[in-house]
Amino acid sequence: MKIYLALISAVALTLSACSQEPAAPAASAPSEPAASASAEAPAASAPTAPAASEAAHAAASSADTACQTVVEAGDDMKYNKTEINISKSCKEYTITLKHMGTMPKTAMGHDLVIAKSEDVDGVAKDGAAAGAENDFIKAGDERIIAHTKLIGSSEEATVKVDTSKFSAGNKYEFFCTFPGHLAMMRGSVNLID
Ligand code: CO
Repeated sequence: MKIYLALISAVALTLSACSQEPAAPAASAPSEPAASASAEAPAASAPTAPAASEAAHAAASSADTACQTVVEAGDDMKYNKTEINISKSCKEYTITLKHMGTMPKTAMGHDLVIAKSEDVDGVAKDGAAAGAENDFIKAGDERIIAHTKLIGSSEEATVKVDTSKFSAGNKYEFFCTFPGHLAMMRGSVNLID
């Protein structure tokens, strides 16, 4: 009785093992045309479009008018400029910051603050500690030479910079005090002849 059952199960195993063999080659064959059809289509066209619009951006931002400039920032946490060049002949220099993104200032707020390079970290740290209710600017911070207010989607803010506050021999930078943005949003302010 036990032997008989063992034999039956052995036969059943053998049968099931054998039955898979003819199925296997049949399964792989029809998949080939499907694979080659899906491989060609959607890859090529997409990546060229953003590159073109970035080039247009760069061309527009390099055309600074004397004693004023426009700096744009968006949801990508970047300014569209890495430097602001201020002519020494300007008594006052006007900077307009525009938020080109869709995110509100509570999530992706930007400002533009100018300070000496060695003061940047401290100004940003104290600004973060001052909190959203203070637009991430420490009240009365004398290290700050100029700053815009904090803005969000589609807003803009203008600040007039008194250029007599710059002194020769110092390096100056502009940056965003929204917490976490300093690493991505920082550029040089250069006084030029
Ligand atoms: Co920012």
